[in-house]
Amino acid sequence: MLMRDLKKIIRELEEKILAALNKAQTEKEVEQVRLDYLTRQGPVAQLMNRLKTMEAKDKKVFGPLLNDLRQKTSETFEQRLLQVKETERIALQKKKTLFDVTAYKPKTLYGSLHPYSYVIEKIENVFISMGYAIVDSQEIEDEFTNFEALNIPADHPARDMQDTLWLDLPDRLMRTHTSNAQIRHMQQHKPPLAILSSGRCYRYEATDATHDYTFMQTECLMVAENISMANLIAAIKAFLEALFEKKDIKMRVRPSYFPFVEPGIEADMQCIFCTKGCSVCKGTRWIEIGGAGLVHPNVLKACKIDPEKYNGFAFGFGLTRLTMLKYGINDIRVLNSGNLDFLRQF
Ligand code: PHE
Repeated sequence: MLMRDLKKIIRELEEKILAALNKAQTEKEVEQVRLDYLTRQGPVAQLMNRLKTMEAKDKKVFGPLLNDLRQKTSETFEQRLLQVKETERIALQKKKTLFDVTAYKPKTLYGSLHPYSYVIEKIENVFISMGYAIVDSQEIEDEFTNFEALNIPADHPARDMQDTLWLDLPDRLMRTHTSNAQIRHMQQHKPPLAILSSGRCYRYEATDATHDYTFMQTECLMVAENISMANLIAAIKAFLEALFEKKDIKMRVRPSYFPFVEPGIEADMQCIFCTKGCSVCKGTRWIEIGGAGLVHPNVLKACKIDPEKYNGFAFGFGLTRLTMLKYGINDIRVLNSGNLDFLRQF
């Protein structure tokens, strides 16, 4: 090899190594440059080895050049290593101490109405527009208001229909239906009156997909002069249309018995989910809605209202069952739970 070429080789090798060190951004990359060029078998060391076999005059020229090469590259290596270490340390520190508020945005969680709240609001809006008062009643009730005043004396078999949860207090029970709202309102108000009252009821029942010891009912009561079955049927229709948000729902009534109404009826609505029979109507095209009737004179008397002058109608529907029907919910326990995954669907 010509000595002239060797000068060029030394210069180019130095440029190459310095450029590589300059480019290296991490400790690992800097170390890679050392492994590529600066080890004992590396190109710099190999060139140094050649000094040993050189003639004296060449040694004079290339000795200092090669020494420079070795010194410059190893110094630059050390410097660069310190630099990248420091940059990496600062970056890590920043990561630890700074919280980047723009780095991610959590999904916004919106609240929603519970299905009960939604349907109750729908129904109440319609009944308010028809002049009804929306009233609340109490869930802890006495025997007189839950039973006696509703014409269900102590030994009456109808008490068995509504297995009662008794409280460990004298004369206190969990109301078995919303009909207590009728009594409480009539004790406080004179006819004409019209109310709608929704709320929780309790019965001593084993729990399964269609039964819970707590469920919702909606009670409707109108007392005035000359109230007829036609008024009752109109109110039931308005209720169904509000609940299912559908017009022209067909319904029918069947005779039934509740001690607090006479005559008593059971209302059915024509299935709105099919035309030929489905699992909801069990192939019958009719869905049971609940009990209703014209208020029994004894109930009016218990509230000191003259049954000769006034009469009325009442209905009490299972809002839990109707809400399940509306939304196709097949397990009452989910509806009554606070399960957020379920509730977020509404
Ligand atoms: N209270 C009755 C029940 O829970 C329903 C009902 C209310 C029936 C009003 C007739 C009139 O079963």
